[in-house]
Amino acid sequence: MAIEPINMNEFQELAKQALPKMYYDYHTGGAEDQYTLKENVEAFSRILFQPRILLDVSRINLSTTVLGYNLSSPIMLAPTGCHKLAHPEGEIATARAAAACKTIMVLSCMSTCTVEEVASSCDAIRFFQLYVYRRRDVSAQLVQRAERCGYKAIVLTADTPRLGRREADIKNKMITPELKNFEGLMSTEVDSEKGSQLEAFASEILDPSLSWKDIGWLKSITNLPILIKGVLTAEDAVKAVDVGVAGIIVSNHGARQLDYAPPTISVLEEVVQAVGGKIPVLLDGGIRRGTDVFKALALGAQAVLIGRPVLYGLAAMGENGVRRVIEMLRDELELTMTLCGCCSLKDIARSHVQTPRDRLR
Ligand code: FNR
Repeated sequence: MAIEPINMNEFQELAKQALPKMYYDYHTGGAEDQYTLKENVEAFSRILFQPRILLDVSRINLSTTVLGYNLSSPIMLAPTGCHKLAHPEGEIATARAAAACKTIMVLSCMSTCTVEEVASSCDAIRFFQLYVYRRRDVSAQLVQRAERCGYKAIVLTADTPRLGRREADIKNKMITPELKNFEGLMSTEVDSEKGSQLEAFASEILDPSLSWKDIGWLKSITNLPILIKGVLTAEDAVKAVDVGVAGIIVSNHGARQLDYAPPTISVLEEVVQAVGGKIPVLLDGGIRRGTDVFKALALGAQAVLIGRPVLYGLAAMGENGVRRVIEMLRDELELTMTLCGCCSLKDIARSHVQTPRDRLR
């Protein structure tokens, strides 16, 4: 009989059993010493609650909006590449789960199903994540294909001028799976037999010259709103507002890029303050519990995104597993709200949490 996972760690364990080591390591791993990987999760555990009592919490409402789209809860799906490594139905299964849970899926441009296949598989609200390539024409074509088939926003990943050093992938000689979006556009073959083929491929194609001025170029090729993913400082948050993007994602790429970058939850508040409510601020990195979602919202995030938990659900049980992962976090968030005395997301306030910095005051 299949084990019914009761928390995210148990989903991760099922994923480990289901996957070949090379793929499991690819999904779970972080960069170099994996300091940030550990901290992304542990930083949440250093934030404590200041719950309120004797409030009527008989009805809890988790619904919210992001860029005007109605979501059943503030839990969105982060872009992660290569879903067919986790399950043969790949990103189509993930999109169907997003649709069933009424949330937004951000499709990675490094997907193993095409933007069109995912679009026609279900009516999920979809954003499209973009890396900018040396071949700008390829990036432009991807953006335009996504726009044509109904993606609602472009998420520009800005923390990846080169791929971070993921040592497990180097050891495993991680292969590049078929990245379907590039078919007929550019070769995904790499010459290298050494180390991570994915890293070799990425360093061939990614454009390290990408800079703030290129937001103008991106705006010139699409009418879709643009979000910048990878903001970790107040300074860059102000720049993002200045260049006129529609939103920010506080992210360290799930600790896969710069090791010793701060855990995202520890910098959220300063980013939120710098943005001053002008555009929505989202967060990803280390969300494994409904309590984590609550903490991010209390510190000013409009919503959060989950990366690895989706892959664990997908590897363990396909579409159904992704659905259950989202539902599990949603149920945990509902319980946290109930126990903190919050009936709706707008009731979640800064005063409901105590950060390590608060304890020093
Ligand atoms: C990612 N992430 C990522 N980000 C991105 O912008 N484009 C991508 O193609 C990928 N691919 C990818 C693959 C895998 C296997 C992982 C684990 C992550 C980063 C992702 O969007 C997100 O920032 C993190 O995954 C969030 O952290 P958690 O939820 O995994 O802790």
